Amino acid sequence: MKTVTLSTLSALKRAGEPFSCLTAYDASFARAAGEAGIEVLLVGDSLGMVLQGHASTLPVTLDEVCYHTRCVARGKGRSLLMVDLPFMSNASQERLLQDAGALMRAGAELVKVEGEAWMAEGIRELTRRGVPVCAHLGLTPQSVYQLGGYKVQGREADQATRILEDARTLVEAGASVILLECVPASLGRAVSETLEVPVIGIGAGPDTDGQILVMHDVLGVSHGRAPRFVKNFMVDADDIQGAFRHYHEDVKARRFPAEAHCF
Ligand code: KIV
Ligand code: NA
Repeated sequence: MKTVTLSTLSALKRAGEPFSCLTAYDASFARAAGEAGIEVLLVGDSLGMVLQGHASTLPVTLDEVCYHTRCVARGKGRSLLMVDLPFMSNASQERLLQDAGALMRAGAELVKVEGEAWMAEGIRELTRRGVPVCAHLGLTPQSVYQLGGYKVQGREADQATRILEDARTLVEAGASVILLECVPASLGRAVSETLEVPVIGIGAGPDTDGQILVMHDVLGVSHGRAPRFVKNFMVDADDIQGAFRHYHEDVKARRFPAEAHCF
């Protein structure tokens, strides 16, 4: 695999070739994922749940995300490194810029922010300063207490239209990538077809330009009931490297996600 950049993702989108993304939190798993061909690694604030055992992503701090980013950056090989801005990094424009700066200095190549159309100004300021942004829409886990749980978003037509409009607004503001979580497959397709930038989906159907999963779900070691959109790739693999390879190959061949993983 050649070094993956934002241009690589755009070229894959234009060529109609899906790409795979996976969360990573340390150097060893990052290396294994990169060697499996996975194009994008995400230091997700899901680390609050899968590493720290919290019930949500809210307790995760900037320092913790920076620590894991430095670990992943040392092992990641040629994959593109995306990193989450933690809860309340968007408390002010000043804080957003400072926190994004810290992530970039730690090794991030793309920062991900949750938020709807109102994040446009923040995204504009970040991209002006050379920080590429992925905007995370649909189910935004940092708002879990406002959403009333981890639920599918955009089922109603007006809600779906709003998510599509928000995505358009954030791309106009400078977002280089959109990530859609837990939305109907029809909305995942509509957003991907409408936008020129790459769209990554998790529980967003088979037609987004990229797919992402949490590493622990791919390895079948998450606790609690697995969401419908995940798949344990260890079931048919001999080892962890094999599970990463199967995930990557299944995304590339459009075997994953299957009907059973979609809304
Ligand atoms: O934190 C995370 O792992 C994420 C992915 C689920 C997209 O944001
Ligand atoms: Na996240």
